[in-house]
Amino acid sequence: MKIESALIIGSGTMGRGIAQVAATAGLVTYVHDVNAEQVKKALAEIEKSLGKLVEKGKLPADTAASAKANLKTVGSLDEINWPKVGIVIEAIYENFDAKVSLYKQVHDKLPAGAILASNTSSISITKLAAATNRPAQFIGMHFFNPVPLMTLVEVIRGLQTDDATVSAVEALAKQMGKNPLRCHDMPGFVSNRVLMPMINEAAFALMEGVADAPTIDEIMKQGCNFPMGPLTLADFIGVDVCLNILEVLHKDLGDPKFRPCPLLRKMVDAGWLGRKSGRGFHQY
Ligand code: 3HC
Repeated sequence: MKIESALIIGSGTMGRGIAQVAATAGLVTYVHDVNAEQVKKALAEIEKSLGKLVEKGKLPADTAASAKANLKTVGSLDEINWPKVGIVIEAIYENFDAKVSLYKQVHDKLPAGAILASNTSSISITKLAAATNRPAQFIGMHFFNPVPLMTLVEVIRGLQTDDATVSAVEALAKQMGKNPLRCHDMPGFVSNRVLMPMINEAAFALMEGVADAPTIDEIMKQGCNFPMGPLTLADFIGVDVCLNILEVLHKDLGDPKFRPCPLLRKMVDAGWLGRKSGRGFHQY
């Protein structure tokens, strides 16, 4: 089944990036958020990002114009043409109960066979799937920030996900200009299971005075050819998001190697969440 229309729920950094690439790929793209102000902001950000890509010659101007025309912000779920929706991609905050309550509002409205995907970075796909009326059509579609620039989509198969859903989501990711790579449903999947311990260790190195934050970042940038140092990356992702993922890894894998660095906790308590709050490991 070719997916022609998508509903993106959540218009934060990830949701708006996903909406942008879906609309650019030619899908009629609904964007919904409980926060109307946030949706307005998202639309402005998407327009800015499309403009930047055109300016740099990475996107033809007419494709950007049709992407804008494909985007439809909806204040209420009743404004959606449900029979046409082939996929819902949920990108709200990382809370199991909030996600499930949202699925219960949409799963009966979706046509048979339509897919429910979550952009969760750490919650079990199998457990989320079990709370819906379509566990076989439930899947993890994990995008990376900034979505318009990052090529990967981690495709996470829950225990109940069927083959047709995996294939449809892979085809959709390719249509969005992304490279889908499959993995199984385990805490942190592959990306965050590998990335978060590195960020955590960089925080421990800072806490123990091995070097200051700019030096830790420069050592990893220049020594390992990373585009951003681990502390800059933590600020980019959100220190609170990193802490939350580490807590899931620690609890669900039960291995002390994932214990979150106390400095991360202290920073979250102080509201030093990274770029979004103006201060994290660095000042913005
Ligand atoms: N749309 C369009 N343009 C954008 C953009 C967007 N959304 N975001 C940034 N840009 C632009 C910048 O404004 C900049 O424009 P300029 O050249 O006019 O200033 C341009 O892209 C590129 O910026 P840089 O010159 O800094 O180029 P880089 O080569 O450094 O690329 C980067 C930027 C792609 C962000 C790169 O630094 C990078 O790859 N960083 C690491 C990102 C990463 O690891 N992301 C994954 C995080 S983990 C995650 O998301 C999973 C979650 O579960 C935690």
